Formats: sequence, structure tokens, C-alpha cells
Amino acid sequence: MRRKIVAGNWKMNKTLIQGLQLADEILSASTSAEVLKIIAPPFTHLSAIAEKIKSRTDFAVAAQDCHHLQNGAYTGEVSAEMVASTGANYVIIGHSERRLYANETNDILIQKLNRALSARLIPIFCIGESIDERNAKTHLEAIRAQLKDGLFHLSSPDFGKTIIAYEPVWAIGTGVTATSYQAQGVHDFIRTEINKKYGKEISDNISILYGGSCNAQNAKELFACADIDGGLIGGASLKSADFSAITNSF
Ligand code: PGA
Repeated sequence: MRRKIVAGNWKMNKTLIQGLQLADEILSASTSAEVLKIIAPPFTHLSAIAEKIKSRTDFAVAAQDCHHLQNGAYTGEVSAEMVASTGANYVIIGHSERRLYANETNDILIQKLNRALSARLIPIFCIGESIDERNAKTHLEAIRAQLKDGLFHLSSPDFGKTIIAYEPVWAIGTGVTATSYQAQGVHDFIRTEINKKYGKEISDNISILYGGSCNAQNAKELFACADIDGGLIGGASLKSADFSAITNSF
């Protein structure tokens, strides 16, 4: 059985005090222990939040990124090993904002994935088409290329550990959510591509999350789809009531 997961990507929001308060609120809300809740705060908050959740098996902490090299003279950067040393067990890789603003290419993403896995972090790998690709109806080709060029170099055991987040770029932070029909269509496509490359057991067991203006109102319909195993939540993860409502939407 695939694990149901809701991950909150705080992006560049919340001071340390504000973040600790939000984490406390999320931890005290009643949520199903069956659902894994992953909190992805800024790097500066990782160890304090990891400490708070350490006795909870239904919570985990993720970094929003890690560097593609192991260590060295790269001022301002944070390595996968450093992330792991905070107590975080997950790392988001290939978010569209990083692909866009930090010019992350497939070549860099491949290196990040490899670094994350060797630091024993579980990658949450983001893929998703642009509005132009969606309008031109080439979105499935775009998704196929992102899988092939960014992810399908992994061995079966490594691939089997990863989580995929389908985030159509046009839906992120826009308030325009993919319909459940659109999202399920792409999730089914992703699972079929994985099946072709890695076989049925791995494709049946990998969690594929939907992201892009997912909120407390639309989560239920999205999560009811056969191939949607949860969500990667941006804006709505910054309010504990909304995030908790989303975690209770299965
Ligand atoms: P959003 O962001 O929920 O604010 O659209 C999702 C994401 O970027 O992961």
C-alpha cells in the first residue's frame, strides 16, 4: 500500500519564532496517524522543528533544497549531509521555483538526487508542465522528458525510495488548481511511465503527490483520485487550520 502524504512547503516564509509556533499548532491538531505529514521549513528552522517532531512517527521534516556538491568553498550553500545532520529525513528537489530562479538544470538535479540519496535523505522530486506546454497539449511529453532526464537514471532500489510531486507550474501560487480530472490524468500517466521503466511493484508503491493551489476546499476531490496519494502544499501550509484540514481530506 502506498503511503498517504501531505507535505507543507513553507518556502521563504516565517521567522524562527513564527515557524516554531506554526509547528506547535500543526502538531497539536488532530490528524490521522495514517497520513505522513512532512514539514518543509527554511533551512534555519530544520533542527528545531526536527527536535519537536522526533517522538511522532506520523511527522517528518524536509529541506526545500540541497546543494549538488558534497562540500567546499560554496558560500551560502547547504549540503545534503548538513540537512541530514539536522534530523531532517526528506528533501524537496527540482521545485519549479528553483528550476526558474536558480536555473537548476536536469544535470544539476541528477547530482542533487544522488547527493540526497547518499546522505540517506528521501527526495521529493518535483515535475510539472508550463502553461504554454499545457495549452499546446504537449504537457505529457514535457512530463515524460522531466522523468527521463531528471529521475530515470536512478537504480530501482533508489527510485523506489523517492516521492514524486506533480506540480503544474501554472497552478503554483496562482489560485488556479488543476481539476481532479486533469491531475488524475497526469498522475496515471506518470505511474504508467514508471511501470514501463521500473515495473509494477515499484510503480504501485511510489507515492505521487499533487501540488499547485491545493487547499482545504479542493483537497478532498483531488485526494479521492486513484493515483493521487496526497499533496505538496505551499500557501495553504502556512495556516495550521488549513494544513490540518488538508491532512484530514483523505
Ligand atoms: P501553492 O504552492 O500551494 O502555494 O500553489 C505549491 C508548491 O509550490 O509546492
